[in-house]
Amino acid sequence: MTTTKTANDASPFRYTYTPPQIQGEFKGKHVISVDQFTKDDLDTLFDAARSIRRRMRQNDRGLTEICAGKVMASLFFESSTRTDMSFQAAMRRLGGDVISVSNGVQFSSMYKGESLSDTIRAAGCYADVVVLRHPQVGSSYEAAYYLDKLNSRIINHTVIVSGGDGVGEHPTQALLDMFTIYDQKGSFDNLSVTLVGDLLNGRTVHSLAKLIAYYKPTGTQLNFVAPETLKMPSHIVQMLRELGISVNETENLTDVLNSSDVLYWTRIQEERFEPEEYNAIKDKFILLHPMIKDAKKDLIIMHPLPRKHEMGTLSDHDILDEDPRAIYFEQMENGMFVRMALLAKVLRGAYV
Ligand code: NCD
Repeated sequence: MTTTKTANDASPFRYTYTPPQIQGEFKGKHVISVDQFTKDDLDTLFDAARSIRRRMRQNDRGLTEICAGKVMASLFFESSTRTDMSFQAAMRRLGGDVISVSNGVQFSSMYKGESLSDTIRAAGCYADVVVLRHPQVGSSYEAAYYLDKLNSRIINHTVIVSGGDGVGEHPTQALLDMFTIYDQKGSFDNLSVTLVGDLLNGRTVHSLAKLIAYYKPTGTQLNFVAPETLKMPSHIVQMLRELGISVNETENLTDVLNSSDVLYWTRIQEERFEPEEYNAIKDKFILLHPMIKDAKKDLIIMHPLPRKHEMGTLSDHDILDEDPRAIYFEQMENGMFVRMALLAKVLRGAYV
């Protein structure tokens, strides 16, 4: 059996706290699950992200007024490069400020034994938005619950945005992934979207698969390519099918590679395994450039990053990166635009 953080390790708030639906109104709402979004909400957010990207290109200094006077707290209890930096950059580019615990969360009071609920309320007293990454599934639900309680007692109203909760969800990554697909393909209809790798523990693919379904595309097929032990959780597959999405699960990439429009490659989540289990599966899927020679000319290759050897060696990376179909760096930049749009909407309700 693979060692993974199962539902048993989840915070009980994952099942008792219901996050608010966005339903056209982002302002003041926590963002902790893709379940909060409808197609219309996504269209609104993508319009805002496109507008922000245009204004960035034009060096529009008005962007720095959007979140002027607002403060974002960055609380990352798991490692991060892109999510943390892109949120911080997004907030600063909108004129807001960023705070975090000096020298990182390892020097926060959680390491004196303070609970997440108290730590989050400390951040809530000082910031307008808290971005939380935490190893426990449902931790963002717990944080939202305690911030709601706090908000009724103090002057400041604080929202939480999840930066990933263990093997659970990564909602803002899915938002930027969806934006990137839409940007490249112009639609979500009639696409063959292939997600490959650690579909059990990879939170990005959980959120992305659900969010595609919530967009209600027609004629779209999701292919899940994973070894038997790392398959997409069955409750997600079942939910997708109930929403009318055609799902194909296979261990053979060759079954689906050449008909794919989107190839979403992922890392085996090493930190969630015992070393011997990781070694047994780490080489299952390695994407090398020769493999895509017969793939579609307009295929897009995505990856949430970081990547390790699932795209081969560093020189293999260099070869793949030169292919115009490899768009993970554009995807990465889109992360900042989408997070700027989200912060503007959540903090100001702003039309950008
Ligand atoms: C991912 C994450 O942290 O879930 N990275 C990211 O946020 N861009 C993917 C991963 O760690 O494999």
